[in-house]
Amino acid sequence: MPEHHFILVIFGASGDLAEKKLLPALNGLTGGGFLTGRFAVLGTGRTPLDDRSFRAKCAASVAPGDAALLSDRLHYQPLNPAHPDDFSALRQRLAELNAEYRAGGNILFYLAVPPSQYASIVEGLGNAGLSGEAEGTWRRIIIEKPFGRDLASARALNRQVLTHFREEQVFRIDHYLGKETVQNLLVARFANGIFEPLWNRNYIRRVEITSAESAGVGARSGYYEQAGALRDMLQNHLLQLVAVTAMEPPATADAWAVRNETLKVFQSLRPLAPAEIAANVVRGQYTASRIRGEPVAGYREEAGIGSDSRTETYVAMKFFIDNWRWNGVPFLVRTGKRLPTRVTEIVVHFRQPPHHLFRQGDASAPPSNQLVIRIQPDEGLLLKFGLKEPGAGFRVRDVGMDFHYSDLSGVRLPDAYERLLLDCIQGDATLYLRNDAVEATWAFVDPVLRAWEEPAGSRLYGYPAGTWGPEPADRLVEPAGDMWREPCRNLTADSSFCEL
Ligand code: BG6
Repeated sequence: MPEHHFILVIFGASGDLAEKKLLPALNGLTGGGFLTGRFAVLGTGRTPLDDRSFRAKCAASVAPGDAALLSDRLHYQPLNPAHPDDFSALRQRLAELNAEYRAGGNILFYLAVPPSQYASIVEGLGNAGLSGEAEGTWRRIIIEKPFGRDLASARALNRQVLTHFREEQVFRIDHYLGKETVQNLLVARFANGIFEPLWNRNYIRRVEITSAESAGVGARSGYYEQAGALRDMLQNHLLQLVAVTAMEPPATADAWAVRNETLKVFQSLRPLAPAEIAANVVRGQYTASRIRGEPVAGYREEAGIGSDSRTETYVAMKFFIDNWRWNGVPFLVRTGKRLPTRVTEIVVHFRQPPHHLFRQGDASAPPSNQLVIRIQPDEGLLLKFGLKEPGAGFRVRDVGMDFHYSDLSGVRLPDAYERLLLDCIQGDATLYLRNDAVEATWAFVDPVLRAWEEPAGSRLYGYPAGTWGPEPADRLVEPAGDMWREPCRNLTADSSFCEL
């Protein structure tokens, strides 16, 4: 593996993301022997820390045995993005660290801060001359989601970023693309002969994507109340899963070619006209309930949430992709907090055979074959099909061929952030979002956001915590009579929903 020398600058180094994801990912990469070059980590932020106190803070956030892996390489420089002088000080500090570590002038900036700070940091870096790449060196910037809060703000942010960085330097992250099973879907589709011939409107009846969480909003009410499920999950994670499922085979496995294909999917999403939104998008908010006998607060009772909040904690949507491959195939996506379980999966429902030879009496048609791509937990692939029940007659029973990643001995699934950080260090942007793709996803969800701002378009259903969301979402499924694949039953007997 080639050696990469660099300095990683984390903006927001004392925040949640750095503590829960970035430092553990760096530890994983270092422990796994993936970072073989010379490198250092420079934390920055408004919190007044120094190298010693930053190292102590970081040691507390990783497993005790791992603290030593990074400790000596960790440094800290206080920085307020609103103060241009702080960027001059940062530049000076980076020059010192670059000399000390012989990092080759390569710098990776990671914006792990609230989006309100993106613009001033990008500008501060640009004005301090930190974004330019001298011959033989690289400068890259990773920007977290949410990238904008609608089409106009995403465009404005792209403009600001691209004033100081070239597109090739910008790595917009969506951690779902770093999940092993998401990448595996590309391999399953494009490295096997058996799936691709079936992967189109002639054989697929519908595609269903669920990303359910059992947790509530937790301590993130400030952010979540302004975002809601559509901005928080659907515009990014779910549409990325749609792209990986629906894209055409790229010409090569190179970043530009792969991302050209995902962009085409987003550009082919059939826009929802204002009059179609109520019938195709269902939004909900969890209400108080009891889960396994324990009382659970409703969203409006959570700390920091107003009693009249109309932020959605659940969204389900049906749409179509207007292209040759997917014409007429409904895509259904749903996501929510306080659902019965934590699961993310893609379910490809295949068409039924044209003639049901083994119909028994008045038994209805056999269930359609399904390919279930389990993104998490219990990562794997399940193919469901009908086989004969042993004994007399020809009774068809649904069976499954089930692959679990956990069955591969000696294989550890790396965290999404490990994979994505390493890719960026190696300069591979395949699993990062390009400016045009981000704007195309916002262009698709923007009409829904606008419709929800209108009093007439703002129907919001309450669903008891621990249930699969409001019942009108069931009516999105087509053909009529089909159901979402529910990975488990509701956890509460009280499954009544209401309009809020
Ligand atoms: C984040 C959202 O992007 O993804 C969170 O902001 C959500 O609200 C999280 O909980 C889910 O990620 P994962 O990897 O746990 O499915």
